[in-house]
Amino acid sequence: MKIIVRDNYKEMSQEAFRLFRESLRDSSVIGFATGSTPNLLYSMISNECRAGNISFKGKSSFNLDEYYPISRGSPESYRRYMEENLFRNIDINRDMINFPDSMMDEDETVRRYLDAYRRSGPVGTQILGIGHNGHIGFNEPGSARDSEIRIVRLSEDTISRNKTRMSMAVTMGIKEIMESTRIILLASGTEKSESIKRAVKGRVTGDVPASFLQEHENTTFVLDREAARLL
Ligand code: GLP
Repeated sequence: MKIIVRDNYKEMSQEAFRLFRESLRDSSVIGFATGSTPNLLYSMISNECRAGNISFKGKSSFNLDEYYPISRGSPESYRRYMEENLFRNIDINRDMINFPDSMMDEDETVRRYLDAYRRSGPVGTQILGIGHNGHIGFNEPGSARDSEIRIVRLSEDTISRNKTRMSMAVTMGIKEIMESTRIILLASGTEKSESIKRAVKGRVTGDVPASFLQEHENTTFVLDREAARLL
């Protein structure tokens, strides 16, 4: 795993954008994450795409996770976040956007997303954030290395930090995340420093799902100084 540290959130986002643009050329399937950390990265991608400097024509995407159950128009939904922050600004073919359909019953939600993944996966370039407890996607502590796309119960910590009333989610598993060719994980701020330390320097364990990335061949952590302060 490679670690790049930049002075602040803006420079971290610029560095992540540089890596993303480089890797976009060779990736036909892009994995997107939600959360506040990739906000500026997504606005850079949007601007560069509008300016005609990058393009998503012919590319498809998968998103890591979504609350369950939730309608796609709900203010809390990750689908809506992606529409507003990225999808409506880029030239990706709408039919090529793969997203969990969180309105089906549990088995059907999982089956559909697994089917889509088996048809169109794995991911070439995966953008990741990290939770305060070391989660990636919604793979909470206790997730297994071979966990697949599934419905999960959110931890109390995640529910309170995400300020949500939702208690469940559908997420790609550690297995699918690890199948990505290239992973770019972003983290910013002191509140992420402990989970970054455990992910990078701790032992590889399902108690800190991001620690599995130590075993991935092409992962880069792009951090700001605050997130990297315990390394
Ligand atoms: C959520 C998402 C994760 C994301 C994490 C961090 O729980 N499921 O995919 O990485 O939040 O979010 P933020 O970037 O807002 O700190």
